[in-house]
Amino acid sequence: MTDVLDAPVAAALAGPHAHLARRVGRAASYDRAVATFSAVPPDPGQQDWDDLAALLGPGRFADLFSLPVTPPASWEPAFRLDGLQMVGSSSLASAVRDPAVEELTADDVPAMLALVEQARPGPFWERTFEMGRYAGVRDDSGRLVAMAGERLRVPGLTEVSAVCTAPEARGRGLAELLVRDVAARIIERGDQPFLHVAASNAGAIRLYERLGFVVRREVVFHGYRTPPRRSPSRP
Ligand SMILES: CC(C)(COP(=O)(O)OP(=O)(O)OC[C@H]1O[C@@H](n2cnc3c(N)ncnc32)[C@H](O)[C@@H]1OP(=O)(O)O)[C@@H](O)C(=O)NCCC(=O)NCCS
Repeated sequence: MTDVLDAPVAAALAGPHAHLARRVGRAASYDRAVATFSAVPPDPGQQDWDDLAALLGPGRFADLFSLPVTPPASWEPAFRLDGLQMVGSSSLASAVRDPAVEELTADDVPAMLALVEQARPGPFWERTFEMGRYAGVRDDSGRLVAMAGERLRVPGLTEVSAVCTAPEARGRGLAELLVRDVAARIIERGDQPFLHVAASNAGAIRLYERLGFVVRREVVFHGYRTPPRRSPSRP
């Protein structure tokens, strides 16, 4: 069942997130304000790369997530990051509903973006919250200080993402509380939770392992710039 996790962006865009997808031929991408993640088939040919370039536009960011494919040499590398893909078990089903945990809505997007800017959990855009359910905890003044939510959704599995706590609120168990809450709702819906984390993020990996997540595979996240627009040839 976890084979869909080998190409989770493609599986999400072809399945539960089809309503958030843009496509040209066999290339697909999320609506830009939702996520930059793009997908081509696992055996892409020149046509697939041309289709993805047409979909994204010239000189645009093409985030291939963890798909182990190499674009043509004219695609300029933009970033590369070693990561881990982890899956959670049904032991996460028993989370206690804590009254401190609030559902986040479209009204909370500015606060979510501010927290992401401060805590930097990874990519998160203006409409990322449309990918799934997001939950958060506020401090006494009402400021959002911790959050977690759902990102990629493939048949049978949902990704836990945007796990972050403002620096001044760390070490109080807020991330644990929120990951448990998000994972328990995923399991309630009949899905299995999974997640991605940078291989260098020892603190977060420790947290996920403590919660029962195990490493499924090592991944490399990578992104490129599509080829620039060709200047028109002079007569
Ligand atoms: C990783 C991160 C989300 C953890 O948030 P947090 O709210 O501090 O997490 P927790 O409080 O649940 O756990 C952190 C530590 O505090 C400890 N802790 C929790 N409650 C505690 C308490 N009441 N008293 C003392 N220690 C406590 C935990 O045991 C844990 O210890 P460890 O680091 O040795 O494992 C936070 O550091 C962060 O936002 N980092 C930047 C963004 C990021 O990397 N996100 C993950 C992306 S995959």
